[in-house]
Amino acid sequence: MEREGGGEDDIVCLDESFFINDNYQLTKFTFGSQVLELFCLHAASTDFDLTGQLVWPGAMLLNDYLSKNAEMLQGCSVIELGSGVGVTGILCSRFCREVVLTDHNEEVLKILNKNIELHTSSENRNCTGLVAKKLEWGSSAQIKQILDEHSGGFDLVLGADIYILINTSILKFSTELFYIYIYVHYVCVNYYYAICHSARKRFIRAWNYIMLRCMEIKNYIIGLAGGMPVLSPMLIYGFQQSSIPLLFDTVAQLLHVRRGQCKFILAYVSRAKILDAMVTNEAISHGMQISEVVGTRTIVGNLEGVIYEITLQ
Ligand SMILES: C[S@@+](CC[C@H](N)C(=O)[O-])C[C@H]1O[C@@H](n2cnc3c(N)ncnc32)[C@H](O)[C@@H]1O
Repeated sequence: MEREGGGEDDIVCLDESFFINDNYQLTKFTFGSQVLELFCLHAASTDFDLTGQLVWPGAMLLNDYLSKNAEMLQGCSVIELGSGVGVTGILCSRFCREVVLTDHNEEVLKILNKNIELHTSSENRNCTGLVAKKLEWGSSAQIKQILDEHSGGFDLVLGADIYILINTSILKFSTELFYIYIYVHYVCVNYYYAICHSARKRFIRAWNYIMLRCMEIKNYIIGLAGGMPVLSPMLIYGFQQSSIPLLFDTVAQLLHVRRGQCKFILAYVSRAKILDAMVTNEAISHGMQISEVVGTRTIVGNLEGVIYEITLQ
């Protein structure tokens, strides 16, 4: 936030950061004998693209499973997709040789890096290769860059709660439109300030009023996508069609590097029957075999979760 002038002419210009909640709290998590502390939010932001700012039930499920089966991680190289704040990858770094945490969201990558820093400075562990990388599913250039640095590929690909994403062109478009709006607002306010000093205060009040109304409309649209029981399955269904195939394209590329010696461990939390089928079908259509790990079906929060092992056929 930027404050200009003083006294009667005191005005506040809002920049993009005003709309991002980065009031992260240091939070303690316990998985079996493993205790982790990291920064995260405790409630979702209004923007679905910032889902990675908090720890999801899928990560709790996966971390419980991994901490009980830590021997499978010993000395391994791991890549995690859609890492969010990094709770899974950071746990893995206590056992693995190298861990690459990935996400596509710049804001999420910032807190992910901060949590990595927190751990590398507070713990003196064996894992020297704990890093965060930007990876948008389906981006060949970004996968290539990661594989150039890890030419042998990875032993494990991990994912927790990553298939529910509302990573849609519609939502992205509305978010981008909103940011363009803020930018235009900022430019106009400053321009007006320069040419019409006397009317500045009234003008800014009017603009801020319009901007708040726009925020409400944006939140209403997002609320429709996330909150309305009738509409949301349809919207999620529409959105997922674009992100699930890209997720599996990326997984397929990573599994191919090691052929039969790499597996994708997915912590799946069921939220809509239609998605359950879609995830399974997408794996099969990518020439993969998907099997439920016996004994992992459990209730997380009020939802049912399961661990899947996915390999190339
Ligand atoms: C629901 S959060 C789960 C975060 C974390 N795995 C957990 O369980 O706490 C989904 C994560 O996937 C990331 N994500 C969503 N769409 C993505 C995409 N197309 N490419 C890469 N990452 C994506 C989000 O930024 C977010 O961090």
